[in-house]
Amino acid sequence: MTPDQVKLVQQSFTKVAPIADQAAVMFYDRLFEVAPQVKAMFPGDLTEQRKKLMATLSVVVNGLGNLETMLPAASALATRHVSYGAKAEHYPVVGGALLWTLEKGLGDGWTPEVADAWTAAYATLSGFMISEAYGRPQAAE
Ligand code: HEM
Repeated sequence: MTPDQVKLVQQSFTKVAPIADQAAVMFYDRLFEVAPQVKAMFPGDLTEQRKKLMATLSVVVNGLGNLETMLPAASALATRHVSYGAKAEHYPVVGGALLWTLEKGLGDGWTPEVADAWTAAYATLSGFMISEAYGRPQAAE
């Protein structure tokens, strides 16, 4: 990611923060629509899950400029996901639902540059998590 892309992700995320709860609802609705098979992996009540997801995204987004500081946490998150049943091939699906949510949430703010920047950010994070959890990097959206 270029420094400009880091800035674009961080700036656009501040616009999603006020609608974080709504965005998280949209994200899981979208995820379960495109990948109904993963629904059973999640708890029935997603209230806590939504909060954790948005809190983690916020930490990740803020840490993008200083990637190495969050690698241990991202590695631990990846390992926990193995026990949740997550597979490498789920990561692009989750990424697709995340980008879709951001597109809807940002409206006109979802420019091609912002889309590219988020795509790069998710590819970086998910590529790292996949290699930590499964030992081989894979292309992610
Ligand atoms: C970069 C991508 C991802 C991020 C940032 C992320 C973030 C999180 C966070 C913060 C939690 C809360 C629990 C914890 O911290 O361990 C969580 C739980 C969970 N995630 Fe993810 N996740 C990602 C990708 C995925 C993928 C690809 C799957 C596969 C379907 C997945 C499935 C789950 C499940 C099933 C749980 C909850 C389990 C439970 O509470 O029983 N996640 N995720």
